[in-house]
Amino acid sequence: MDLDAFVTGLPKAELHLHIEGSLEPELMFALARRNKVALPYASVEDIRAAYRFSNLQDFLDIYYAGAGVLRTEEDFHDLGAAYFRRLAADGGRHAEIFFDPQTHADRGVPFPTVADGLLAAMAAAERELGVTSRLILCFLRHLSEDEAFRTLAEAEPYLDRIAGVGLDSSEVGHPPGKFARVFQAAGERGLKRVAHAGEEGPPAYVWEALDGLRVDRIDHGNRALEDEALVARLVRDQITLTVCPLSNLKLCVVEDMAAHPMRRMLDLGLRATVNSDDPAYFGGYVKDNYLAVASALELTADDLVTLARNSFKGSFLPPAEIDRRLAEIDRYVAGAVVTL
Ligand code: ADE
Ligand code: ZN
Repeated sequence: MDLDAFVTGLPKAELHLHIEGSLEPELMFALARRNKVALPYASVEDIRAAYRFSNLQDFLDIYYAGAGVLRTEEDFHDLGAAYFRRLAADGGRHAEIFFDPQTHADRGVPFPTVADGLLAAMAAAERELGVTSRLILCFLRHLSEDEAFRTLAEAEPYLDRIAGVGLDSSEVGHPPGKFARVFQAAGERGLKRVAHAGEEGPPAYVWEALDGLRVDRIDHGNRALEDEALVARLVRDQITLTVCPLSNLKLCVVEDMAAHPMRRMLDLGLRATVNSDDPAYFGGYVKDNYLAVASALELTADDLVTLARNSFKGSFLPPAEIDRRLAEIDRYVAGAVVTL
């Protein structure tokens, strides 16, 4: 069995995926036509050619513009359904997906339109593909905490179907502490908490996410490696890092894949996971991300199994369910003859 087949068959969860970032140019075009929204691109090739970024903000400008074609519940359903098909083809068994309600509310798309469409796609994925999932509501950190509170209020009728809250968008200049009170309110409502930190921002932002927002996971966390005491804390508490290798490459967080910190993260005992972030923009879904780090960093089959196990250990599935998924990995590994 070669590397591709081994990774495809390895049961895995994806814990860092912005559903709006899974909008492929073909679907963007189709939705633009369906909703009579003008796009500043003449063709699918034109769109792909625009996907060259030198930092996070470069990408975010294009990503928010692309999301402009999403208008109806059916659009959000179709977006989710397309993602789950890709995930299942990659051997993904579970996903915890981010959505950005504020970017849609800005265009007059109400919260229920977004949530109902995504929840319908999630139910269908479980029924038809056997893929389970959870929803994570992300607050946009370039907006105010008051706006985040308003979004949490709009989400209130849906909180029994939302696993947690997250924090995304432009990191530098918007430290986690800005959202301490809304994260506390989310915690009081029984929601899990995660935050993007240490993607472009300094290690201090990771500390703030841990101690100020009391997060259950850190999204990215690359720059945590610059601070030895922070690494020790993350290892001690086995905080899951949702690392996104192809995203890191495309947004110039790393210079090339051979310089990616994943090898070091594993050697340090950090609970790192592999994820795609915004696969339609960064050139690959979850399997491509496993393959990219595996070949650039010469990861072993054991490393890949550790990463897959970490993806379930760090998930928001109930403990018994996590154990069941880990046992599935054990059975798979026992039966796989690997020649990497
Ligand atoms: N929104 C979508 N992808 C993101 C990323 N990688 N960082 C911050 N915000 C995002
Ligand atoms: Zn992200």
